[in-house]
Amino acid sequence: MPLTSSVPADSPSGSATYNDTIVRQFALAAVIWGVVSMLVGVFIAAQMAWPALNFDVPWLSFGRLRPLHTNAAIFAFGGCALFATSYWVVQRTCQVRIISDKLAALHFWLWQAVIVAAAITLPLGITRGKEYAELEWPISIAIAVAWVAYAIVFFGTVGIRKVRHIYVANWFYGAFIIAVALLHITNAMSMPATLWKSYSVYAGVQDAMIQWWYGHNAVGFFLTAGFLGIVYYFIPKQAERPVYSYRLSIVHFWALIFTYMWAGPHHLHYTALPDWTQSLGMVFSLILLAPSWGGMINGVMTLSGAWHKLRDDPIIRFMIVALSFYGIATFEGPMMSIKTVNALSHYTDWGIGHVHGGTLGWVGFISMGALYYLVPRLYGQPRMHSLRAIEIHFWISTIGIVLYIASLWIAGVMQGLMWRSINQDGSLTYTFVESVKASIPFYIIRFVGGLMYLSVMGIMAWNVLTTVQAGRAQDAPIPAVLAHV
Ligand code: HEM
Ligand code: HEM
Repeated sequence: MPLTSSVPADSPSGSATYNDTIVRQFALAAVIWGVVSMLVGVFIAAQMAWPALNFDVPWLSFGRLRPLHTNAAIFAFGGCALFATSYWVVQRTCQVRIISDKLAALHFWLWQAVIVAAAITLPLGITRGKEYAELEWPISIAIAVAWVAYAIVFFGTVGIRKVRHIYVANWFYGAFIIAVALLHITNAMSMPATLWKSYSVYAGVQDAMIQWWYGHNAVGFFLTAGFLGIVYYFIPKQAERPVYSYRLSIVHFWALIFTYMWAGPHHLHYTALPDWTQSLGMVFSLILLAPSWGGMINGVMTLSGAWHKLRDDPIIRFMIVALSFYGIATFEGPMMSIKTVNALSHYTDWGIGHVHGGTLGWVGFISMGALYYLVPRLYGQPRMHSLRAIEIHFWISTIGIVLYIASLWIAGVMQGLMWRSINQDGSLTYTFVESVKASIPFYIIRFVGGLMYLSVMGIMAWNVLTTVQAGRAQDAPIPAVLAHV
């Protein structure tokens, strides 16, 4: 296998075209669902500061809107960004059109139907009660069908490639597709009782173990591996530099996918799960730091010799800062997996701070960078309508993330310390309500940070819309002569 370090070129010269319609559809859907999911996020953040915003309406209550936010943010926003980029990347790096336009269209429309079904059922309180796997069995089956269609198109396209080498970004996308299929199908196994109610086939601690094997690998494969596919294609493209070390990217791939699978029990410290399993989860989480940082360094160093681009190019800034947040989250995660640290952090807002360092900083920023790369190319434009708007987007959202995560780090450590504080006679120093009251100022800061992040997402939507209106949807021709093997 050649260890080549450059991304295959996509200079057009042939007559057949790539299917860019599917890329356009998913790219625009990502922007729309980004705004919607973050709007719900900001609303529930406001509810935590001002609970009266529940308005005593059940379907507006925090408990029902929270899963709507998580599902919409991860699977609608994150998912559509992954699908758009993977369809773009697999065609360019294999230099063929996808094997089936119809299956890709089925994937798109079924996925949108799933999102709409989630937006209806979750506020109605229809849920399986498993985090990130709330959607009831009929919707779960629809997800599996859409996923199989996606897998057939992706791997089928790799199968008919005209380039011998399978570029590393495809390995990451491929792992994401296989792992998510395995996780979803295993964790969703349930016995339907009625059309909208089912019960997990697993019971007790086995159910918890399967759930967090799923939950953690949803982080590892949905929120990480696929986005690393974006890193390995779009950073070299935007930086106009080869990947820093192609050899490292392959070590990174195998180390990451092997290690992630074992780390799930760190979500179940001090539970009925056997102690050795918890320790195993902790050890693998600590090991995970190495491949995660190896990948981050590989991405950042791709800029070597072109550091000035960080000053001049707001798109590359989104991508590199995304990697910095990836580094923060993957340092913090292993620390939180240490049992004694977890004894303090678990149940507190530290966890929520960690999550949003990963999701807003890493997942959000790398998606935005890739979307800003894609949109003008999909509509035959030399660049986005307004570079200034991208600058504003970058700065306001960066400040928003810092406000979000710093306030929750402080709130989280404070809550943990208040809950474990004991008087000399053994009674608790603080009641739970006192810790909630003490957290409110931090919830207000988090709300402001979230609002900043959302408002500039609105500017992105405007920038995308104006670029789309100025351009014309066009599918790029496939190069007749292989530009790179
Ligand atoms: C404007 C941006 C956002 C705001 C204001 C926001 C706000 C929130 C709030 C208030 C919660 C509930 C926290 C709690 O239960 O105490 C939450 C949970 C969560 N959000 Fe967001 N969010 C935003 C963006 C995102 C994005 C883009 C993603 C994913 C790509 C995401 C993923 C999650 C996840 C996974 C959880 C559950 C965390 C856990 O259970 O530990 N959020 N968010
Ligand atoms: C080396 C990598 C990582 C490790 C070892 C790790 C570890 C952890 C630990 C120990 C927790 C707290 C579990 C608990 O107390 O219940 C956690 C929660 C979480 N992490 Fe990470 N993390 C890593 C990277 C990331 C990244 C990059 C993201 C997002 C893109 C992320 C998203 C989450 C989410 C969503 C949760 C909340 C799960 C829940 O309780 O609902 N993590 N992680």
